[in-house]
Amino acid sequence: MSMHLRDVATPALVLDRDLLARNTARMTDHVAARGLRLRPHMKTAKSIDVARYALAGNFGGITVSTLTEAEYFAGHGITDMLYAVSIVPDKLDRVAALLRRGVTATVIVDSPGVAAAIAAYGAARGMIFPVMIEIDVGEARGGVHPESKALMDVGEALRGADGARLCGVMAHAGQSYAARSIAGVAAIGADEARGAVLAAHRLRGAGLECPEVSVGSTPTALHGPVCDGVTEIRCGVYMFGDLFQAQIASCAIEDLAVSVLATVIGHRRDPNRIVIDAGALALSKDRSTAGMPLDAGFGLVLHETGEAPRALLRVDRVFQEHGVVEMPDPDLLAAFPIGTRVRVLPNHVCMTAAMYDRYHVVAGGDVLLDTWDRCNGWGTPAG
Ligand SMILES: Cc1ncc(COP(=O)(O)O)c(C=O)c1O
Repeated sequence: MSMHLRDVATPALVLDRDLLARNTARMTDHVAARGLRLRPHMKTAKSIDVARYALAGNFGGITVSTLTEAEYFAGHGITDMLYAVSIVPDKLDRVAALLRRGVTATVIVDSPGVAAAIAAYGAARGMIFPVMIEIDVGEARGGVHPESKALMDVGEALRGADGARLCGVMAHAGQSYAARSIAGVAAIGADEARGAVLAAHRLRGAGLECPEVSVGSTPTALHGPVCDGVTEIRCGVYMFGDLFQAQIASCAIEDLAVSVLATVIGHRRDPNRIVIDAGALALSKDRSTAGMPLDAGFGLVLHETGEAPRALLRVDRVFQEHGVVEMPDPDLLAAFPIGTRVRVLPNHVCMTAAMYDRYHVVAGGDVLLDTWDRCNGWGTPAG
């Protein structure tokens, strides 16, 4: 018996499989056309079923943002992953467990002290930790500057180490999200690549091995120039897209593969508004579209079918479990009686999806094809 979206309790996370397939194929082709390897970042999707689409057609590994993701994907047979958040010695036991399972779990460092601690930890256990040095190419989050002495200090801490192997440098130009033109993103993409390649060049000049140069964000992956010396691209949000990405030219609104299914739970005429059962916990409080040409409030409201209503509707206010949608046109109220289902497109899909433990998978229509799990949080997997 086939299930439909109307049988799903709300709020629920809906994923359109065909749009996912289109988005992932587009990025795979784009990166391949640039002669690079794609190492998809699974921080947004956190799902092996989505990873299968992202990995189709390439033989690289994945990127993860938590050790929980690393353990989950290892459990599903992925054996090459870059954990792209600075490691600290306290977390090395979990990485060691992955290495013992035969997973190439590469960690990143930007501190000579941590690099030395990894080398000592590995040597004491007869293990070799693959390590990349994080390069700051302008986001001012983690990483060492490509021209800095700090870069060489981290490299020196790994020189000749028995317990660690320097396998490259990685950079993420997250400041690309602040660019407001394709030319602006392209310039940031050029800086990202230039900084990472320069850092690798300096390490090699000092006689250190540095085979990999890994860069990327969705905007720079799409619009950055091809740069000699870069070996792989990491990006993640492109798999789904969101309302913010649509406004910085990473995708079109028609490409957005993930939405929140919600139910109209209230109806008011003073002033005209509907209340839905998707509030801050179902959508997140992300307001990244504020100040953009299309300020989507806390998300854009569509009909259950995914069609746009005849006037732009957005979630204007959120409470923990309530979302309030002001009706610009009082006649529209009649189209959304209590009990009606709607779909809400998210501003920042990474934040919204993190509220759910599974995707309800559809292909265009409202027939439920499957449910796919997600690995949220930071804890060790159950069992
Ligand atoms: C280190 C790193 N690499 C790659 C990415 C992927 O970027 P995007 O989410 O724009 O695809 C991120 C995103 O936060 C990141 O932190």
